[in-house]
Amino acid sequence: MLAPLTTFGIGGPASYFADATTEEDVVAAVIWAREHGVRMFVLGGGSNVLVRDTGFRGLVLKIGVMGVEACGDGCFEVGAGEVWDDFVEAMTGLGLAGVECLAGIPGSVGGTPVQNVGAYGQEVAETIESVRAFDVSDGKFVALSKAECRFRYRESLFNMDEPGRYIVTRVRFRLRAGGEPNLRYADLQRRLGGMEGLTLTEVAKVVREIRREKGMLLVEGDADCRSAGSFFKNPIIGEEMLGSIAAAARLEASKVPHWPAGDGRVKVPAAWLLEHAGFVKGYADGPAGISTRHTLALTNRGGATCADIERLQERIVGGVKERFGVTLVREPVLVG
Ligand code: EPU
Repeated sequence: MLAPLTTFGIGGPASYFADATTEEDVVAAVIWAREHGVRMFVLGGGSNVLVRDTGFRGLVLKIGVMGVEACGDGCFEVGAGEVWDDFVEAMTGLGLAGVECLAGIPGSVGGTPVQNVGAYGQEVAETIESVRAFDVSDGKFVALSKAECRFRYRESLFNMDEPGRYIVTRVRFRLRAGGEPNLRYADLQRRLGGMEGLTLTEVAKVVREIRREKGMLLVEGDADCRSAGSFFKNPIIGEEMLGSIAAAARLEASKVPHWPAGDGRVKVPAAWLLEHAGFVKGYADGPAGISTRHTLALTNRGGATCADIERLQERIVGGVKERFGVTLVREPVLVG
């Protein structure tokens, strides 16, 4: 069963399963799958996936390539299987800046470039120098530069342009020695209100606290974190759409939370749209629900199936579309 390998705790079995602890294992698994005509799905920390109840008919390859190697001048090459937050803790502890706001995010290092993980005003794209991956179509390892990774908001070469082509095995980060912590995000500024001279470790600690309060930190026994984090992407829309959202909510456009997203477009919090369409914290639809602490996380309230979560997803997408004319897009990957 794949359920225990995911933070949602949902999902049926895989026909085949392999644990790759070395790059040679990755190659061997790809060759095996090809020879046997079997589909493959690459699993990292399982924190951003929703696995179907029927499971995955094919080979699930869990990436457990470990190791953190210093390559000098704030540069580290990190195995895809390393736990992301352990890496953040190590870097902040060394006084290296660039990932402190990404503390407490569940999952493994290899997943971070795939969806360009971001939070509290930082994205991994800012510190990734290159990604080493096995190119399944060419049968060889490649080092992809940051530009080649084509990072966008929650998107990259790996999940959008060429999905399934590359298996990430190592990620090279470049951090800033003596760098100041990034305190761009409003939630963070509010919490730190005027405190000065914080160390990177202190900032990371505050970020983990905020995440814990929102049920966005994995805490044993906390039902709100039986989720895949944010379930929907924050939509990026034009000014006229913002106007129609405001009109539907009977508000002035300035009262609808939004942030500039380039090219005259704005990002609107999906959580706000949900709440204003009646999908509030603690909303329950049988065993599927909305976190009691953060509207954007759908949760497995206990014994939920993938079908339960998908039913709730459809209800929310339909409700938000009807209320605001915006079609929300799921953020976690659906497997199976
Ligand atoms: N909001 C609500 N209700 C809520 C929560 C938020 O209305 O329950 C509205 C508020 O207007 C708030 C705004 O949404 O100001 C933004 O909320 P928050 O700061 O919690 O961030 P988010 O947009 O909901 C994004 C990421 C998270 C990341 C946080 C913090 C996406 C899809 N989600 O959430 O990433 O941790 O910012 O930076 O971009 C993830 O991708 O899985 C994820 C957890």
